[in-house]
Amino acid sequence: MIDKFGREIDYLRISVTENCNLKCIYCIDDNNILNTCNKDILNDDEIIKIATQCALLGIKKIRITGGEPLVRKNIENLIYRLSNIEGIEEIYITTNGVLLHDKLEAFKKNGLTGVNISLHSLRKDRFKELTKFDKLDEVLSAIDKALKLGLKVKINTVIVDDINKDEIIDFINLTKNKNLDLRFIELMPIGAAKKHKGTNNKEILNIIKSNFKNVKEENKIEKSGPANYIKIEGYRGKVGFISPISSCFCEDCNRIRLTSSGFLKKCLHYNYGVDLKKHLDNEIFDKDLNALIYENIYDKPEKHLFLESCDNKENKYMNQIGG
Ligand code: GTP
Ligand code: 5AD
Repeated sequence: MIDKFGREIDYLRISVTENCNLKCIYCIDDNNILNTCNKDILNDDEIIKIATQCALLGIKKIRITGGEPLVRKNIENLIYRLSNIEGIEEIYITTNGVLLHDKLEAFKKNGLTGVNISLHSLRKDRFKELTKFDKLDEVLSAIDKALKLGLKVKINTVIVDDINKDEIIDFINLTKNKNLDLRFIELMPIGAAKKHKGTNNKEILNIIKSNFKNVKEENKIEKSGPANYIKIEGYRGKVGFISPISSCFCEDCNRIRLTSSGFLKKCLHYNYGVDLKKHLDNEIFDKDLNALIYENIYDKPEKHLFLESCDNKENKYMNQIGG
């Protein structure tokens, strides 16, 4: 469907839990103790009900997010049910990769198209410092297995000035022999991340250009994706830049978000939206649910303004929004 700014909205991000098995410094702080109680979150039937109406309105791609989606029970079954909704063409998951290795076969069999894996250090000691858990090997072996199974793999890396800037080249080298895309995401000032200073993607690109000779800028391949890509000659994978701070990609935005508690969010950056869980609890008819979703998608805000103040800015943490 088309929103009021003429954008085609065909991508739904579904957060299935706020919980996470890591405690990354840019996500979790003393004010964001992970909530371990799951009673207020949407159950699988409710998620399917909402996703079905979204598909009728033109959603074709679903991404499962969190928190960490793999800590939700029986996520493989939810993947299966989502992939069987008429109109849904692709299902992806964004995960920290820690629990991924042993679930990959089932995910693939149940219809998963690809995985985006968040990884912010390739050094064991630093990975532990950043996440509070010694799980780097688990993540690396999941990446290799996902590639072996033929899933599309993207690595999401956030570079923070005083923490992992010295690993930019090591991350690039991941794309040398592996058929994966690596994306540098500018740190967004949300929740615990407000305390850190993210590195600007223009600076990262300059560092890359001064280290590699043949760097080619790619035409935008995913029409509405947030990343711009480069390719280094002779390297298998691509390197992408998601730059919500230094530039704006909202003009092409094609997505809406459903939080684990059932709030349909029109934009990552604003608290605008509708509490669909409340309507489901009141046994809303499918046609009314459809109309409510339509109304909200149509009214998606024009763009986010991370560097300016405004009343409706989202105040929640990233794990509560769904990334
Ligand atoms: P693809 O479908 O592979 O393009 O994935 P994606 O980039 O949409 O999803 P992923 O979960 O890997 O998110 C990567 C980063 O992009 C995260 O930091 C997200 O928060 C950020 N991102 C995704 N969508 C938006 C958006 O609409 N606005 C902003 N500012 N950031 C977004
Ligand atoms: N800014 C940018 N990216 C973030 N992520 C989590 N918090 C932030 C932030 N403040 C990343 C995760 C994951 C993706 C969904 O968002 O690492 O890859």
